[in-house]
Amino acid sequence: MDILDTQVAIIGSGPAGLLLGQLLYKAGIEHIIIERQSAEYVASRIRAGILEQITVDLLHKAGVADNLDKYGLPHDGVEILTNNQRHRIDLSQLTGGKQVVVYGQTEVTKDLMEARQQANLRSFYQAEDVQIHDYESSPYVTLVQNGHSYRINCQFIAGCDGFHGVCRASIPEDKMQTFEKVYPFGWLGVLADVPPVAPELIYVQSERGFALCSMRSNTRSRYYLQVPITDTVEQWSDEAFWEELKNRLDDDSKANLVTGPSIEKSIAPLRSFITEPMRFGKLFLAGDAAHIVPPTGAKGLNLATSDIGFLSDALIEYFQNGSNEGIDQYSARCLARVWKAERFSWWLTHLLHRFDTETEFDHRMKQAELNYVLESVAGQTTLAENYVGLPFKVDRSDLKSHVLASDKTESIHLTSSS
Ligand code: APR
Ligand code: PHB
Repeated sequence: MDILDTQVAIIGSGPAGLLLGQLLYKAGIEHIIIERQSAEYVASRIRAGILEQITVDLLHKAGVADNLDKYGLPHDGVEILTNNQRHRIDLSQLTGGKQVVVYGQTEVTKDLMEARQQANLRSFYQAEDVQIHDYESSPYVTLVQNGHSYRINCQFIAGCDGFHGVCRASIPEDKMQTFEKVYPFGWLGVLADVPPVAPELIYVQSERGFALCSMRSNTRSRYYLQVPITDTVEQWSDEAFWEELKNRLDDDSKANLVTGPSIEKSIAPLRSFITEPMRFGKLFLAGDAAHIVPPTGAKGLNLATSDIGFLSDALIEYFQNGSNEGIDQYSARCLARVWKAERFSWWLTHLLHRFDTETEFDHRMKQAELNYVLESVAGQTTLAENYVGLPFKVDRSDLKSHVLASDKTESIHLTSSS
């Protein structure tokens, strides 16, 4: 067995693990990434593609934003289609100038892997039998690669190994609490080299179920349909997919839709899931290893990167200043943000999808709620500020001064009208 030493062992080479690696490297902290799949497999997974400003900022901080700056498409708004009518939510205007950037998670992963290769940083791909040990005291990781056994001694373990990873599974059940909601449908996604149907994303609420018109570039589109969770990809020919998408669109979009052969087609289940806490001694969970959101609202990647923002700050503070504060606060800081993003994703999923179990009363209530959101500036603002991403660190004094300012407006208004 080969024995190696490092400061941080990172399990998982998804966007969370890769971004953490890059931020630690920039701060001069040694780490090793251990991944069970091959590098090619990791680089080719198709995932969502909307980046909040927090994610964009962290990718800049990590020095991997050249392609993002060149090819990312900043979006100032999104559309919601209901009752054959499209309503634009002006994200920028409603949030004081904030935007989101359309840039595929696949590209984020490739950019991070490329930077890692250039810096010659150590990764174990196709690692088998990965196990974590003694994370309360002197942590180490064991693995097998090409038939050879390794032991990696470290000071901390970052569990960035996704929902099905080994890290969360290694924690005794009585040491954590999990919260879960599984939705009774999936998203059938198609990627195709056709121009997007509209310049901005369209979230579609229809009697036939939810649909989403998204994109990767001006020549590549990503579309989704709500389908029964029991459906299989084989049941959906390209023709059937385009036909059903058209059935859920408004007349204008239907007329503009360009169809073509799919270059990827898959069905993703929808789940809300949260683990508490997110730190166990010297083991941290981050990203999908700790929480899952349904894709409505595109929070998955952005939550993973914001965890890494907190975790990288905590580890850098520890190694550079000997401070435990960030480490001790890690779980609480992440979870405060996680629950709010979970709430938004759950709410938007509920509002826009058709549930078999809903009564006509439930359905009408949802329609009324959606109409309220779309017709009210307050309703649109709530949607917009959640969509562009809630603040990384909430400064409640900002909130107080905002409330005080509006109190003042109210009293001036009252005085002048009396
Ligand atoms: N050992 C080593 N690696 C593992 C193990 C294991 N036992 N189990 C899983 N992994 C790897 C997976 O192969 C995967 O590459 O961990 C990685 C986890 O990556 P992601 O699933 O992409 O999770 P994360 O980095 O947290 O990114 C979150 O991905 O799923 C989307 O919606 C999600 O956009 C969000 C983002
Ligand atoms: C995507 O482009 O894949 C995407 C966009 C927005 C979402 C989910 C997925 O809410």
